Amino acid sequence: MDHAQLESAYQAHVAHLKTVYTQALETAGLDGVLIHSGSLMKRTQFDDQSWPLRLVPYFQHWAHLPWPECALLVLKAGPVKLLAYEDKSFWERWTQPDWNLLMGCLDVVRIDEPSHVKKHLPNGRRLAYVGENPTRAAEWGVDISLVNPAALLEPLNELRVHKTRYEQLCLEEANLVACRGHQKVAAAFHAGERSELRLHLHYLAETSQDDPETPYKNIVAIGSSAAILHHVSYRKERLDGPVSLLVDAGATFQGYASDITRTHVATGSADAELFSELIGRVDRMQQQLCKVATVGRGYETLHDETHVLLAHILRDLDIVRMGVEEQVQSGITRMFLPHGLGHSLGLVCHDVGCAKIKPRPENAWLRNTRIIEPNQCFTIEPGVYFIDTFMEQLRTGPHGSAANWKVIDQLRPYGGVRIEDDLVVQAAGLPVQNLTRAFLH
Ligand code: GLY
Ligand code: MN
Ligand code: MN
Repeated sequence: MDHAQLESAYQAHVAHLKTVYTQALETAGLDGVLIHSGSLMKRTQFDDQSWPLRLVPYFQHWAHLPWPECALLVLKAGPVKLLAYEDKSFWERWTQPDWNLLMGCLDVVRIDEPSHVKKHLPNGRRLAYVGENPTRAAEWGVDISLVNPAALLEPLNELRVHKTRYEQLCLEEANLVACRGHQKVAAAFHAGERSELRLHLHYLAETSQDDPETPYKNIVAIGSSAAILHHVSYRKERLDGPVSLLVDAGATFQGYASDITRTHVATGSADAELFSELIGRVDRMQQQLCKVATVGRGYETLHDETHVLLAHILRDLDIVRMGVEEQVQSGITRMFLPHGLGHSLGLVCHDVGCAKIKPRPENAWLRNTRIIEPNQCFTIEPGVYFIDTFMEQLRTGPHGSAANWKVIDQLRPYGGVRIEDDLVVQAAGLPVQNLTRAFLH
């Protein structure tokens, strides 16, 4: 990462945020907003341990300062103040941020106590609070009616839909790091590693990011567990038998996430060869979908197109003996692919702002219904799974005889396939940038 490039992109990013915040504050009838970095949350009320801090994304949008009880003060006019509280207790030491980056753009003020935020607030102004701790908001003197006001959050969510150059650089770096982890896991798997936990640990070691730094809990699934969409209860033991591996794992850079999935198989039997063919077909379908994710198209139409492409695969591989259109109309393809094609990606894995319009009922789990526009970042992640619940529904439903149970039973022990990349949309007419394939195939 070229630091000078990051620095100038960050300056432009902060300037852009200032412009949009000024307008949003004006429209919401506010003089300013205090954005809280977050408070530590106890694991349970019966425990004295806390979860690792997850920064409030609205705070992280401005500043990657991973410390609790800090605040940003954004007023309609004037510099943005970063009120930085560094806990000096002997129990913990927080990671130092990139101070040069922050100090180049924000007015950084050190405070000795979280309550001292109040000393820096202008008198008689109408200030909102954005964050997760209403007790802090009250301590800082913010009226409860101005805690996370919808009139402000709405434009701030919209702001997160289009990524600045700085954000795109961060997303790219998060991809670079995650791809190293994916390569390592693939190599370990093909060298014979068969424990989900150990594969997960290989990933963390290679990316040099601990569990709390990853944007979501890695999904590492061997065999039939690949049909469990969010399989995070890693099995420790060696798993032999028909072996496939689905790894859905990301990384972060300055708080920005990558979200990448690859599926592998250890070939050697006829069934494994068939599953390998299925992986190849899903991979080609995924790349085809990436190519047509162009400016002006509705993301939901891409999701619909995915089901048509999937029906071709199911028919070609003799998994379902039914015409393409009929498969889609009858809902059969949705039994093999129940989740959405993808989602907006940014400071959180399922980023905000792209699902304001509800998808059609048959696309219930689709998390992106926007028209594709330049500077959006989203995933494209088609899959095909042999999920017990849906296979039973299919078997006992009106179309049970259209499914080829011999082939399905051959593939079931391999769980399923998902291929997922992260894309950034360029200006109309330019090809979409695939952040993942730049580093991983
Ligand atoms: N890793 C979660 C997802 O792909 O949406
Ligand atoms: Mn995803
Ligand atoms: Mn994923």
